[in-house]
Amino acid sequence: MTAMRIEDFELERFFARYEFAVRHLLCASDVEGWSMADLLALADTESAELWHDLRLGYTEPLGHPLLRREIASLYETVTEDEVLVFSGAEEAIFVLANVLLGPGDHAIVGWPSYQSLHEVARFAGAEVTLHELRGEDGWTIDVERLRGELRPSTKLIVINAPHNPTGSMPDLSTFRAIVDLAADAGATLLVDEVYRFLERDPLDRLPAGADAAPHGASIGVMSKSFALAGVRIGWLATHDARLLDAAARFKDYTTICASAPSEILSIIALRARDVVLGRSRSIVEGNLALLDPFFERQAGRFRWVRPRGGPVGFPELLGGVPIDRFAEDLVEAAGVLLAPGSIFGHRANHFRLGFGRTDMPQALEAFEAFADRTLPRDR
Ligand SMILES: Cc1ncc(COP(=O)(O)O)c(C=O)c1O
Repeated sequence: MTAMRIEDFELERFFARYEFAVRHLLCASDVEGWSMADLLALADTESAELWHDLRLGYTEPLGHPLLRREIASLYETVTEDEVLVFSGAEEAIFVLANVLLGPGDHAIVGWPSYQSLHEVARFAGAEVTLHELRGEDGWTIDVERLRGELRPSTKLIVINAPHNPTGSMPDLSTFRAIVDLAADAGATLLVDEVYRFLERDPLDRLPAGADAAPHGASIGVMSKSFALAGVRIGWLATHDARLLDAAARFKDYTTICASAPSEILSIIALRARDVVLGRSRSIVEGNLALLDPFFERQAGRFRWVRPRGGPVGFPELLGGVPIDRFAEDLVEAAGVLLAPGSIFGHRANHFRLGFGRTDMPQALEAFEAFADRTLPRDR
Protein backbone atom coordinates (compact mmCIF):
# COMPACT_ATOMS: atom_id res chain seq x y z
CA MET A 1 0.00 0.00 0.00
CA THR A 2 1.37 3.46 -0.87
CA ALA A 3 1.22 6.08 1.86
CA MET A 4 -1.35 8.85 1.50
CA ARG A 5 0.19 12.21 0.63
CA ILE A 6 -1.12 15.52 1.86
CA GLU A 7 -2.02 17.99 -0.89
CA ASP A 8 -0.33 21.38 -1.05
CA PHE A 9 -2.13 24.02 1.00
CA GLU A 10 -2.97 26.32 -1.92
CA LEU A 11 -3.69 29.44 0.11
CA GLU A 12 -0.54 29.10 2.21
CA ARG A 13 1.60 28.44 -0.93
CA PHE A 14 0.04 31.57 -2.44
CA PHE A 15 0.93 33.62 0.65
CA ALA A 16 4.41 32.11 0.77
CA ARG A 17 4.92 33.56 -2.70
CA TYR A 18 3.33 36.98 -2.25
CA GLU A 19 2.78 37.93 1.40
CA PHE A 20 6.07 39.66 2.05
CA ALA A 21 6.66 40.78 -1.54
CA VAL A 22 3.65 42.98 -2.33
CA ARG A 23 2.74 46.51 -1.23
CA HIS A 24 -0.80 45.80 -0.02
CA LEU A 25 -2.46 42.58 1.14
CA LEU A 26 -6.09 43.18 0.33
CA CYS A 27 -6.85 39.54 1.11
CA ALA A 28 -5.33 39.01 4.58
CA SER A 29 -7.54 37.20 7.05
CA ASP A 30 -5.95 38.54 10.22
CA VAL A 31 -6.28 41.91 11.89
CA GLU A 32 -3.30 44.31 11.86
CA GLY A 33 -0.87 42.90 14.41
CA TRP A 34 -0.08 44.63 17.70
CA SER A 35 3.40 46.05 18.24
CA MET A 36 5.30 44.47 21.09
CA ALA A 37 5.62 47.82 22.90
CA ASP A 38 1.88 48.56 22.72
CA LEU A 39 0.97 45.08 23.88
CA LEU A 40 3.41 45.07 26.81
CA ALA A 41 1.99 48.42 27.90
CA LEU A 42 -1.30 46.60 28.55
CA ALA A 43 0.23 44.14 31.04
CA ASP A 44 -1.18 44.06 34.57
CA THR A 45 1.25 43.73 37.50
CA GLU A 46 1.20 39.95 37.59
CA SER A 47 1.66 39.42 33.85
CA ALA A 48 4.37 42.12 33.70
CA GLU A 49 6.26 40.08 36.31
CA LEU A 50 5.66 36.86 34.41
CA TRP A 51 7.16 38.53 31.35
CA HIS A 52 10.12 39.99 33.18
CA ASP A 53 10.96 36.82 35.11
CA LEU A 54 10.27 34.41 32.26
CA ARG A 55 12.65 31.48 31.86
CA LEU A 56 12.98 30.13 28.37
CA GLY A 57 12.69 26.45 29.09
CA TYR A 58 10.05 24.01 27.87
CA THR A 59 6.53 24.92 28.90
CA GLU A 60 3.68 22.83 30.30
CA PRO A 61 2.39 20.48 27.58
CA LEU A 62 -1.26 21.39 28.20
CA GLY A 63 -0.46 25.10 28.21
CA HIS A 64 0.38 27.64 30.93
CA PRO A 65 -2.27 27.27 33.68
CA LEU A 66 -2.93 31.03 33.71
CA LEU A 67 -3.30 31.06 29.94
CA ARG A 68 -5.74 28.15 30.09
CA ARG A 69 -7.69 30.04 32.74
CA GLU A 70 -7.93 33.15 30.54
CA ILE A 71 -8.99 31.06 27.55
CA ALA A 72 -11.62 29.21 29.61
CA SER A 73 -13.10 32.55 30.64
CA LEU A 74 -13.97 33.24 26.99
CA TYR A 75 -16.60 30.49 27.33
CA GLU A 76 -19.73 30.10 29.46
CA THR A 77 -19.18 26.58 30.77
CA VAL A 78 -15.57 25.62 30.06
CA THR A 79 -13.03 25.14 32.86
CA GLU A 80 -9.27 25.51 32.48
CA ASP A 81 -8.98 21.70 32.54
CA GLU A 82 -11.05 21.63 29.38
CA VAL A 83 -8.59 23.75 27.39
CA LEU A 84 -5.57 22.49 25.48
CA VAL A 85 -3.14 25.06 24.09
CA PHE A 86 -1.67 24.61 20.61
CA SER A 87 0.81 26.45 18.41
CA GLY A 88 -1.83 28.19 16.30
CA ALA A 89 -5.29 27.02 15.28
CA GLU A 90 -3.54 25.22 12.44
CA GLU A 91 -1.94 22.74 14.84
CA ALA A 92 -5.28 22.19 16.59
CA ILE A 93 -6.92 21.38 13.23
CA PHE A 94 -4.14 18.99 12.28
CA VAL A 95 -4.23 17.16 15.59
CA LEU A 96 -8.01 16.95 15.86
CA ALA A 97 -8.54 15.49 12.40
CA ASN A 98 -5.84 12.93 13.14
CA VAL A 99 -7.27 11.80 16.46
CA LEU A 100 -10.92 11.85 15.42
CA LEU A 101 -10.68 10.22 12.00
CA GLY A 102 -9.20 7.24 10.23
CA PRO A 103 -9.96 4.95 7.29
CA GLY A 104 -13.64 3.98 7.20
CA ASP A 105 -14.74 7.23 8.87
CA HIS A 106 -16.65 10.02 7.21
CA ALA A 107 -16.48 13.78 7.81
CA ILE A 108 -18.60 16.66 6.52
CA VAL A 109 -16.90 20.02 6.16
CA GLY A 110 -18.43 23.34 5.11
CA TRP A 111 -16.90 24.55 1.84
CA PRO A 112 -15.32 26.74 0.42
CA SER A 113 -13.10 26.70 3.45
CA TYR A 114 -9.69 27.06 4.97
CA GLN A 115 -8.15 24.06 3.24
CA SER A 116 -6.76 22.21 6.25
CA LEU A 117 -10.29 21.80 7.64
CA HIS A 118 -11.01 19.23 4.91
CA GLU A 119 -7.58 18.23 3.62
CA VAL A 120 -6.19 16.94 6.93
CA ALA A 121 -9.35 14.85 7.39
CA ARG A 122 -8.80 13.31 3.96
CA PHE A 123 -5.11 12.80 4.75
CA ALA A 124 -6.10 10.99 7.96
CA GLY A 125 -7.90 8.46 5.75
CA ALA A 126 -11.49 9.63 6.11
CA GLU A 127 -13.97 10.14 3.30
CA VAL A 128 -14.88 13.80 3.23
CA THR A 129 -18.10 15.37 1.98
CA LEU A 130 -17.80 19.07 1.24
CA HIS A 131 -21.00 20.81 2.28
CA GLU A 132 -21.20 23.54 -0.31
CA LEU A 133 -22.10 27.06 0.80
CA ARG A 134 -23.73 28.97 -2.04
CA GLY A 135 -23.64 32.69 -2.74
CA GLU A 136 -27.30 32.71 -3.74
CA ASP A 137 -28.17 31.38 -0.25
CA GLY A 138 -26.03 34.06 1.43
CA TRP A 139 -23.29 31.42 1.93
CA THR A 140 -25.25 29.78 4.74
CA ILE A 141 -25.41 26.14 5.76
CA ASP A 142 -28.42 24.21 4.43
CA VAL A 143 -29.48 21.99 7.33
CA GLU A 144 -31.70 19.71 5.26
CA ARG A 145 -28.94 19.15 2.72
CA LEU A 146 -26.52 18.57 5.60
CA ARG A 147 -28.87 15.93 7.03
CA GLY A 148 -28.87 14.19 3.66
CA GLU A 149 -25.06 14.14 3.66
CA LEU A 150 -24.87 12.18 6.91
CA ARG A 151 -23.76 8.55 6.80
CA PRO A 152 -23.68 5.90 9.52
CA SER A 153 -19.89 6.38 9.49
CA THR A 154 -20.02 10.18 9.99
CA LYS A 155 -17.72 10.96 12.91
CA LEU A 156 -17.13 14.65 12.43
CA ILE A 157 -18.95 17.74 11.22
CA VAL A 158 -16.83 20.88 10.80
CA ILE A 159 -18.18 24.38 10.52
CA ASN A 160 -16.40 27.72 10.65
CA ALA A 161 -18.30 30.73 11.97
CA PRO A 162 -17.76 33.56 11.26
CA HIS A 163 -16.63 31.98 8.03
CA ASN A 164 -13.47 32.27 5.96
CA PRO A 165 -13.70 33.26 3.11
CA THR A 166 -17.31 34.52 3.02
CA GLY A 167 -17.90 36.14 6.44
CA SER A 168 -21.20 34.27 6.77
CA MET A 169 -22.63 32.89 9.98
CA PRO A 170 -25.56 30.57 10.59
CA ASP A 171 -28.39 32.13 12.58
CA LEU A 172 -29.05 30.75 16.05
CA SER A 173 -31.81 28.33 15.02
CA THR A 174 -29.67 26.92 12.20
CA PHE A 175 -26.75 26.56 14.60
CA ARG A 176 -28.95 24.71 17.12
CA ALA A 177 -30.21 22.44 14.35
CA ILE A 178 -26.62 21.58 13.39
CA VAL A 179 -25.75 20.84 17.03
CA ASP A 180 -28.77 18.48 17.26
CA LEU A 181 -27.98 16.86 13.95
CA ALA A 182 -24.43 16.06 15.07
CA ALA A 183 -25.79 14.65 18.36
CA ASP A 184 -28.26 12.40 16.50
CA ALA A 185 -25.42 11.18 14.27
CA GLY A 186 -23.13 10.55 17.23
CA ALA A 187 -20.57 12.87 15.59
CA THR A 188 -18.29 15.51 17.05
CA LEU A 189 -19.22 19.04 16.00
CA LEU A 190 -16.02 21.00 15.53
CA VAL A 191 -16.58 24.74 15.33
CA ASP A 192 -13.66 26.78 14.02
CA GLU A 193 -14.23 30.03 15.89
CA VAL A 194 -11.04 31.91 15.02
CA TYR A 195 -13.11 34.95 13.96
CA ARG A 196 -15.42 34.88 17.00
CA PHE A 197 -15.91 38.28 18.69
CA LEU A 198 -15.78 40.04 15.32
CA GLU A 199 -19.49 39.79 14.59
CA ARG A 200 -20.93 42.98 13.03
CA ASP A 201 -23.80 42.79 15.50
CA PRO A 202 -22.74 41.32 18.87
CA LEU A 203 -26.28 39.92 19.17
CA ASP A 204 -25.41 37.60 16.27
CA ARG A 205 -22.64 35.96 18.30
CA LEU A 206 -23.36 32.25 18.43
CA PRO A 207 -22.87 30.07 21.48
CA ALA A 208 -19.39 28.55 21.32
CA GLY A 209 -19.25 24.97 20.08
CA ALA A 210 -17.74 23.87 23.41
CA ASP A 211 -20.60 25.46 25.36
CA ALA A 212 -23.33 24.23 23.05
CA ALA A 213 -23.06 20.50 23.73
CA PRO A 214 -20.85 17.76 25.20
CA HIS A 215 -20.04 16.63 21.65
CA GLY A 216 -19.10 20.19 20.64
CA ALA A 217 -15.51 21.40 20.33
CA SER A 218 -14.22 24.93 19.77
CA ILE A 219 -11.02 25.96 18.06
CA GLY A 220 -9.77 29.45 18.87
CA VAL A 221 -6.63 31.44 18.20
CA MET A 222 -4.86 34.70 19.04
CA SER A 223 -4.20 35.45 15.34
CA LYS A 224 -7.43 36.93 14.06
CA SER A 225 -9.85 38.77 16.37
CA PHE A 226 -7.04 39.25 18.91
CA ALA A 227 -4.64 40.55 16.22
CA LEU A 228 -1.59 38.57 17.37
CA ALA A 229 -0.86 36.13 14.54
CA GLY A 230 2.85 36.22 15.32
CA VAL A 231 2.48 34.64 18.76
CA ARG A 232 1.17 31.42 17.14
CA ILE A 233 -1.05 30.50 20.06
CA GLY A 234 -4.29 28.61 19.48
CA TRP A 235 -6.42 26.21 21.47
CA LEU A 236 -9.04 23.49 21.69
CA ALA A 237 -11.86 23.87 24.23
CA THR A 238 -14.31 21.01 24.83
CA HIS A 239 -16.12 19.10 27.58
CA ASP A 240 -15.08 15.90 25.80
CA ALA A 241 -12.32 14.63 28.12
CA ARG A 242 -11.40 11.72 25.85
CA LEU A 243 -10.89 14.05 22.92
CA LEU A 244 -8.72 16.38 25.02
CA ASP A 245 -6.64 13.46 26.22
CA ALA A 246 -6.18 12.01 22.72
CA ALA A 247 -5.24 15.44 21.36
CA ALA A 248 -2.69 15.98 24.15
CA ARG A 249 -1.09 12.61 23.35
CA PHE A 250 -0.89 13.42 19.63
CA LYS A 251 0.62 16.83 20.33
CA ASP A 252 3.68 15.06 21.76
CA TYR A 253 4.51 14.34 18.10
CA THR A 254 3.94 17.85 16.75
CA THR A 255 5.17 20.64 19.05
CA ILE A 256 5.08 19.09 22.57
CA CYS A 257 4.42 22.47 24.14
CA ALA A 258 3.87 26.08 23.13
CA SER A 259 6.39 28.93 22.95
CA ALA A 260 7.12 30.41 26.41
CA PRO A 261 7.11 34.13 25.44
CA SER A 262 4.00 33.65 23.33
CA GLU A 263 2.07 32.18 26.22
CA ILE A 264 2.76 35.22 28.40
CA LEU A 265 1.98 37.68 25.61
CA SER A 266 -1.32 35.87 25.10
CA ILE A 267 -2.14 36.10 28.82
CA ILE A 268 -1.51 39.86 28.63
CA ALA A 269 -3.77 40.24 25.60
CA LEU A 270 -6.57 38.10 26.96
CA ARG A 271 -6.58 39.98 30.26
CA ALA A 272 -6.88 43.21 28.27
CA ARG A 273 -9.41 41.69 25.86
CA ASP A 274 -11.75 44.68 25.90
CA VAL A 275 -9.00 46.96 24.62
CA VAL A 276 -7.64 44.34 22.21
CA LEU A 277 -11.00 43.43 20.70
CA GLY A 278 -12.12 47.07 20.69
CA ARG A 279 -9.12 47.97 18.54
CA SER A 280 -9.83 45.10 16.12
CA ARG A 281 -13.49 46.02 15.80
CA SER A 282 -12.71 49.63 15.16
CA ILE A 283 -10.20 48.78 12.38
CA VAL A 284 -12.72 46.44 10.74
CA GLU A 285 -15.65 48.84 11.08
CA GLY A 286 -13.62 51.76 9.73
CA ASN A 287 -12.70 49.69 6.69
CA LEU A 288 -16.26 48.49 6.13
CA ALA A 289 -17.38 52.11 6.10
CA LEU A 290 -15.22 52.48 2.97
CA LEU A 291 -16.20 49.16 1.44
CA ASP A 292 -19.95 49.79 1.55
CA PRO A 293 -19.80 52.83 -0.77
CA PHE A 294 -17.16 51.04 -2.89
CA PHE A 295 -19.59 48.21 -3.63
CA GLU A 296 -22.32 50.76 -4.40
CA ARG A 297 -20.09 52.68 -6.80
CA GLN A 298 -18.80 49.49 -8.41
CA ALA A 299 -22.14 47.63 -8.52
CA GLY A 300 -21.77 46.85 -12.24
CA ARG A 301 -18.41 45.18 -11.67
CA PHE A 302 -18.34 43.70 -8.20
CA ARG A 303 -20.96 42.30 -5.86
CA TRP A 304 -20.72 40.72 -2.44
CA VAL A 305 -22.80 39.32 0.36
CA ARG A 306 -21.84 41.75 3.15
CA PRO A 307 -19.95 39.69 5.76
CA ARG A 308 -21.83 39.26 9.05
CA GLY A 309 -18.62 38.61 10.95
CA GLY A 310 -14.86 38.41 10.67
CA PRO A 311 -12.41 40.44 8.54
CA VAL A 312 -12.95 38.74 5.16
CA GLY A 313 -15.59 38.55 2.44
CA PHE A 314 -15.93 36.75 -0.88
CA PRO A 315 -17.00 39.22 -3.60
CA GLU A 316 -17.64 38.28 -7.20
CA LEU A 317 -16.05 39.95 -10.22
CA LEU A 318 -18.82 40.44 -12.78
CA GLY A 319 -18.65 40.96 -16.51
CA GLY A 320 -16.66 38.01 -17.76
CA VAL A 321 -13.04 38.89 -16.93
CA PRO A 322 -11.57 35.82 -15.19
CA ILE A 323 -10.64 36.68 -11.60
CA ASP A 324 -7.31 34.82 -11.76
CA ARG A 325 -6.17 37.01 -14.62
CA PHE A 326 -7.54 40.19 -13.06
CA ALA A 327 -5.80 39.44 -9.74
CA GLU A 328 -2.52 38.72 -11.47
CA ASP A 329 -2.69 41.94 -13.50
CA LEU A 330 -3.65 43.92 -10.37
CA VAL A 331 -0.74 42.71 -8.29
CA GLU A 332 1.64 43.25 -11.18
CA ALA A 333 0.45 46.79 -11.93
CA ALA A 334 -0.49 48.12 -8.49
CA GLY A 335 1.07 45.80 -5.90
CA VAL A 336 -2.35 44.96 -4.43
CA LEU A 337 -3.03 41.31 -3.67
CA LEU A 338 -6.45 39.62 -3.91
CA ALA A 339 -6.92 35.89 -3.32
CA PRO A 340 -8.84 34.37 -6.25
CA GLY A 341 -11.44 31.72 -5.40
CA SER A 342 -9.44 29.09 -7.29
CA ILE A 343 -7.10 28.98 -4.29
CA PHE A 344 -10.06 27.51 -2.39
CA GLY A 345 -10.84 25.18 -5.29
CA HIS A 346 -13.86 27.40 -6.07
CA ARG A 347 -14.74 27.61 -9.74
CA ALA A 348 -16.91 30.76 -9.89
CA ASN A 349 -15.46 34.24 -10.30
CA HIS A 350 -15.04 35.17 -6.61
CA PHE A 351 -12.07 36.39 -4.60
CA ARG A 352 -11.28 36.82 -0.92
CA LEU A 353 -11.09 40.40 0.22
CA GLY A 354 -9.64 41.15 3.67
CA PHE A 355 -10.44 44.28 5.66
CA GLY A 356 -8.54 43.84 8.89
CA ARG A 357 -5.44 45.78 7.91
CA THR A 358 -4.79 49.47 8.55
CA ASP A 359 -3.51 50.06 5.00
CA MET A 360 -6.84 48.93 3.54
CA PRO A 361 -7.90 52.47 2.55
CA GLN A 362 -4.78 52.88 0.37
CA ALA A 363 -5.12 49.33 -0.98
CA LEU A 364 -8.76 49.92 -1.87
CA GLU A 365 -7.95 53.19 -3.59
CA ALA A 366 -5.27 51.54 -5.76
CA PHE A 367 -7.59 48.60 -6.45
CA GLU A 368 -10.44 50.87 -7.52
CA ALA A 369 -8.20 53.01 -9.73
CA PHE A 370 -7.02 49.82 -11.46
CA ALA A 371 -10.60 48.57 -11.87
CA ASP A 372 -11.64 51.94 -13.34
CA ARG A 373 -8.75 51.80 -15.78
CA THR A 374 -9.17 48.23 -16.94
CA LEU A 375 -12.76 47.03 -16.55
CA PRO A 376 -15.73 48.07 -18.66
CA ARG A 377 -18.22 50.18 -16.69
CA ASP A 378 -21.29 48.05 -17.37
CA ARG A 379 -21.85 44.42 -17.96
C1 LIG B 1 -10.81 29.42 9.46
C2 LIG B 1 -9.40 29.37 9.89
N1 LIG B 1 -9.02 28.44 10.76
C3 LIG B 1 -7.74 28.34 11.17
C4 LIG B 1 -6.78 29.19 10.70
C5 LIG B 1 -5.36 29.03 11.16
O1 LIG B 1 -5.00 30.04 12.06
P1 LIG B 1 -3.47 30.18 12.48
O2 LIG B 1 -2.71 30.40 11.22
O3 LIG B 1 -3.41 31.36 13.32
O4 LIG B 1 -3.06 28.93 13.14
C6 LIG B 1 -7.13 30.17 9.78
C7 LIG B 1 -6.10 31.10 9.24
O5 LIG B 1 -6.31 31.77 8.27
C8 LIG B 1 -8.47 30.26 9.37
O6 LIG B 1 -8.87 31.19 8.49
